Amino acid sequence: MLLHLVGSLVVLLASCGFVKASEKWGYSSEEEEDGSPRTPANWSLSYPNCGRHNQSPINIDSKYVTVDRSLEEILFVDYDDYPTNQTWKLLNNGHTVQLQANFSHPPQLHAGGLNAKYEFIQMHFHWGEDDFEGSEHRINSRKYPLELHLVHKRRGSGRTLATGIDIKASLLAVVGIFFDLQVDDNEDIKPITDALSRIVNPDEPVLIDLPTFTLQSLLPVQRDYFRYDGSLTTPPCDAVVQWSVLSQALSISTAQLTSFRKLRHHTHGTTVPAAYLNLNNVTAVEVAVNETALHDEDNYIIRNFRPVQDLGDRRILQYSSTNAARVDRPPSMATETEAESGAAKDGSSSSPGKSKKNSAAAVGGGWSVVLSTMVLAAFFRF
Ligand SMILES: *[C@@H]1O[C@H](CO)[C@@H](O)[C@H](O)[C@H]1NC(C)=O
Ligand SMILES: *[C@@H]1O[C@H](CO)[C@@H](O)[C@H](O)[C@H]1NC(C)=O
Ligand SMILES: *[C@@H]1O[C@H](CO)[C@@H](O)[C@H](O)[C@H]1NC(C)=O
Ligand SMILES: *[C@@H]1O[C@H](CO)[C@@H](O)[C@H](O)[C@H]1NC(C)=O
Ligand SMILES: *[C@@H]1O[C@H](CO)[C@@H](O)[C@H](O)[C@H]1NC(C)=O
Repeated sequence: MLLHLVGSLVVLLASCGFVKASEKWGYSSEEEEDGSPRTPANWSLSYPNCGRHNQSPINIDSKYVTVDRSLEEILFVDYDDYPTNQTWKLLNNGHTVQLQANFSHPPQLHAGGLNAKYEFIQMHFHWGEDDFEGSEHRINSRKYPLELHLVHKRRGSGRTLATGIDIKASLLAVVGIFFDLQVDDNEDIKPITDALSRIVNPDEPVLIDLPTFTLQSLLPVQRDYFRYDGSLTTPPCDAVVQWSVLSQALSISTAQLTSFRKLRHHTHGTTVPAAYLNLNNVTAVEVAVNETALHDEDNYIIRNFRPVQDLGDRRILQYSSTNAARVDRPPSMATETEAESGAAKDGSSSSPGKSKKNSAAAVGGGWSVVLSTMVLAAFFRF
C-alpha cells in the first residue's frame, strides 16, 4: 500500500471534528461514518429542518402550476460585470464545485415578483452518475444531467420588506438552470469545466483568472421561470429560499459532464491514524492515506442531487413571456415544457451568448456553512 501525502490542514480538519456539521451528510450509502448512512433520507437525523416543511427540490408538475400574469421578468442587473481582476475562486467543498468572486458591484436580481433585491454570493452545480440524471428539480418528472444554482442573498435589512412578507423565508433567492446534453462542448462553460482538474481534491481552492467570463454567459436567452417557496437543497435545509427555476435549458457535452464526476469527496475512514497528527505543528504534518481508497469509485462525487420533496400545499407560479397572448388557455405548461425539452435535447436551445465568457470561482466553506452563518446572522440582525 502506497502512502500518500495530502494537505495537512485538510486532514487535520477532517479528523479533528472541525468539519463536523458539514461532514455529517452525503449522497450515497458509502459516505458514512460511525456506521450511520449519510443518504438524503437520513439527513434529518442530524439536521431536523431537512424533515420539515417547504423542502426543495421539487418535481415541477404542470398539474400544480399556475401561470401568473402579474409576474414580471427577472432583471439580472450587472450580470455582465467582471469581478475584481477577473479573478474567481473555485472550490471543491467535498459536496460540489462552488465559485465565488469579489465584485465592486455584485450582480443582482431585481423585480421578477421577488420579495426584495438580491445580490449574488456564489454558484454551484448538481450532477449525477450518468447523463440521464443529475438535476435536483424535475419538470414533469424529467431529469436533466446537470443543474446550476446561482445563489443570491437579500440586500438591506428585512425592515424594507413589504408587510406580510416572511423575513426569514425570503432570505435567499436562488436561480436554478438546467443543462441538457449536446454533442459539442458548451464553450460558455468550458473555462469552468476545464479548471475542474485543478480542484480534484476537496478543500483545496484555486484562484483562477477568467478574463472573458461573466455570469451573463450562464443565462439562457429565454428567462421564463417557475417560482415557488422552498429550501436549501443541502443540510441544514433551511426553508429560506425563493426559487426561480428557468424553463429553458443550457447545454453541455458528455465530456464536460464527466469532468464533474472526477472530483473527490472527503474520504471518511480512510484518512489518518490519530498518532500522525501534531496539532501544534500544522504545516509539517504528513499523513498516510490508503491509496487504494483514494482511487476507489466510492470516493468521487458521482452524484450530488437531493431527491424531489413533497410539494405539500405549496403553489408553483409560472412566468411566461409568451403567455400574455394566450389569456384564454388553461395552464397548458406541459406542452410548452415538452417542446422546450425537445429543443434542448437536440441542442438548439443552448445558445446563450456565444460570444460571452465563463466563470469559475470558489470559496472556502461550502454552501451549507455559508448559509448557516447567514441564517444565524439574519436571526441576530432582526
Ligand atoms: C436511513 O435511511 C434509510 C433509507 O435510505 C432508512 O431505511 C433508515 O431507516 C434510515 N435510518 C434512520 C435512523 O432513520
Ligand atoms: C488586482 O491586480 C493588481 C495588479 O496586478 C494588484 O495590484 C491588486 O492587488 C489586485 N487586487 C486584488 C484584490 O487582488
Ligand atoms: C476576495 O477578497 C478577500 C479579502 O480581500 C480575499 O481573501 C479573497 O481571496 C478574494 N477572493 C477572490 C476570488 O479574489
Ligand atoms: C514541525 O515539524 C517539522 C517536521 O517534523 C519540524 O522540522 C519542525 O521543527 C516543527 N516545528 C515546530 C515549531 O515544532
Ligand atoms: C484500503 O482501501 C480499500 C478500499 O477502500 C480497502 O479495501 C482496504 O482494506 C484498505 N486497506 C487498508 C490497509 O486500510
